[in-house]
Amino acid sequence: MSGFIEGLPKVELHLHIEGTLEPELVFALARRNDVKLAYADQAALKAAYQFSDLQSFLDIYYQGSRVLLNEQDFFDMTWAYLTRAHAEQVRHTEIFFDPQAHTARGVPFAVVISGIHRALEQARQEWGMTSRLIMSFLRHLSEQDAFDTLKDAMPFKDKITGVGLDSSEQGNPPAKFGRVYAACQELGFRLVAHAGEEGPPENIRDALDVLSVERIDHGVAAIRDPELMARLAAEHVPLTQCPLSNLRLRVVDKMSDHPLLRLLQAGVKVTINSDDPAYFGGYMNANYQAVQQGLGASDQQLLVITLNAVNACWLSPEEKARLS
Ligand code: ADE
Ligand code: ZN
Repeated sequence: MSGFIEGLPKVELHLHIEGTLEPELVFALARRNDVKLAYADQAALKAAYQFSDLQSFLDIYYQGSRVLLNEQDFFDMTWAYLTRAHAEQVRHTEIFFDPQAHTARGVPFAVVISGIHRALEQARQEWGMTSRLIMSFLRHLSEQDAFDTLKDAMPFKDKITGVGLDSSEQGNPPAKFGRVYAACQELGFRLVAHAGEEGPPENIRDALDVLSVERIDHGVAAIRDPELMARLAAEHVPLTQCPLSNLRLRVVDKMSDHPLLRLLQAGVKVTINSDDPAYFGGYMNANYQAVQQGLGASDQQLLVITLNAVNACWLSPEEKARLS
């Protein structure tokens, strides 16, 4: 690992907290909560992390989330992530959580957000590490389910900065959630959405035009559409890209095919993030290393990409000034 990457202060903008559950913690929580798992041990679970596409990953990711039942479980998961991120010089992190993955199993919204928030607060107090929370709607579920979730979130609105859209992109285009996003905008939430991960460039356009998002999560498909690339550059739309995720979910065949540097060279505000690090083989430093080694990015380019994340994050100008 290069000393430059290790020492670089970083900002993470695309991280699913449920995607940070390491096999060890999955099994520890399963024991604590008496949850039966489909895998005999950690090695068997890890062996199942051979993904053919996004859906094959999501099936295992939602299975893993079943071990989360109590406030302390959500705290422990979040604290484990924050500890790793802190060790990798992440100074600020904007975290997705999937409330529907838990409320559908009977875990109250309050339990989910209280455990996550308590860990975020502890990291702020102990290390000065800042964070924001992004409530993500599961796009394979209905519009009504998203509206119900928005209602559940209302008592905790002060703890949630933005909303996002994740899960299966194929067959669930942005327009399905046009009315949900309009309501979220009206309520003052910041807006982002996964688009162009497995789906076409059209989904990136619709996320911008129909959902009015300010950042695109992934946006890999933009490389196939020069006009869209030019628009993203001209409108300074940040892309929160996740190289190791895209490799493990076969969005790209090999790291050298990843479009991140080509997008950067076209003037697009790309950033590097870890997505679901427990499943994809690494946290922030490993993703930076993949861009350095797989794409040949220079230290100067990695610095520009990091400054893109500082610019794109939701801290106040005063808080940003304190990041370095
Ligand atoms: N949920 C967790 N990780 C995801 C990803 N990479 N794409 C869509 N939904 C997700
Ligand atoms: Zn994601």
